[in-house]
Amino acid sequence: MSIKERLTEIFESARGEYISGEDIAKKLGCTRAAVGKAVKQLRNDGYRITAVTNKGYCLEAESDVLSSAGVQKYIKDPSEVDIRVYKSVDSTNNVLRELANLGAPEGTIVISGEQTSGKGRLGRSFFSPGDTGLYMSLLLRPEMSAANAVRITTAAAVAVAEAVEAVSEKKADIKWVNDVYIGGRKICGILTEAVFSLENGGVDYAVLGIGVNVYSPVGGFPEDMRATAGIVFDSPMNDMRNRLAGLIAENFMRYYRELDKSTFAQSYRQRLLWKGERINVINGAQSFQAVLEDADESCALIVRLDDGTKKVISSGEITIRKAK
Ligand code: BTN
Repeated sequence: MSIKERLTEIFESARGEYISGEDIAKKLGCTRAAVGKAVKQLRNDGYRITAVTNKGYCLEAESDVLSSAGVQKYIKDPSEVDIRVYKSVDSTNNVLRELANLGAPEGTIVISGEQTSGKGRLGRSFFSPGDTGLYMSLLLRPEMSAANAVRITTAAAVAVAEAVEAVSEKKADIKWVNDVYIGGRKICGILTEAVFSLENGGVDYAVLGIGVNVYSPVGGFPEDMRATAGIVFDSPMNDMRNRLAGLIAENFMRYYRELDKSTFAQSYRQRLLWKGERINVINGAQSFQAVLEDADESCALIVRLDDGTKKVISSGEITIRKAK
C-alpha cells in the first residue's frame, strides 16, 4: 500500500480530528516531508484537509470523497472484498472485466467517481458525470446456470433500494426489472454482464454494475433525461458515497450468499413500481398495454391483458413504461 493510501486510512478513521504531522510520520514510518507530499496528493484528489500549526492535519468531517478505506468502514467483513477506487475510468464494468480475465477473485469491487463511457442496458450509454454519482461494479463467480443469473440483478435492485432508504429515509421503488426510483424518477440503473463457460454452460463470472445519481450533476442532466432522471440528495452529505457503496455491497453480498433461496423477493415485490397501474410492455418495435398486477417469487412480472388473461413476463430485452 502506498503512503497516500495508508494516510487515507489514518484520516478516514479519525475524521474531523487533528493529527500531528509527526504522529502520522511515525505511524507510516516516513518523513514529515513525505507526509506533506501525500497530503498534497489527497487534496488534489478532492479531500478537504486543513492544516493548523501546532495541531497538525485534519480531514474535514463534512466531505464526500470516495476511497477504498472510506468504503471499507461500512462493510462488516472487509476481508470478503477487495475494493479499488478510481477518480475516472471509461466504465467500471470494463475495468472489472479486465481484472476478472486476469483471475481476480469474487468480491473484487471497482468504484469510480466518474465514467467517460458508462454503459447502460440494451446497448445504451449511462450518463456518469464526475463527483456527483456512484459507479461501482462487483465481481461474482457464482456456481449457477445462466437462467438463475437474472437473480443477481434483481437482488442488486433490492440491495440498492434498501441502502438508499437507510441513508435518506426516502421510499425507493423498483421499476421492473432493475431500475431504482425515488418519487417517480430513476436514481439508479443496473447492468449485469455475464461471461459463460463453454465447458459446462454455467456462468464463468458476472460483473454486476450499479450506477446511482447521488446528487445533481453540475449543469444538470442532459435534456433527454430531464423528465425522468432523479437524485437521492439535493446537497452534499457527509461521507455519503462511501457509505452508500459500503451499504450496497453489504446488502447485496448478504442476498447473494443465499441467492438460490431468493430471500430478497419479498422486499422486491413490496417496492414494485406502478403496481395496479396501466403500463406499456415494450419488446423492440412491439408493444402492448396491460395492468401491472405483481411480480412472482422469481421476480417475473405478472400483468393482466385487456381481454382478462394473465401474462407472466420474464426479463430479457423487455422494458416497461407507464401508459399515458
Ligand atoms: C441502465 O440503467 O441501463 C443500466 C446502467 C448501469 C450503469 C452502471 S454504472 C457502473 C457500471 N459501469 C457501467 O459502465 N455501467 C454500470
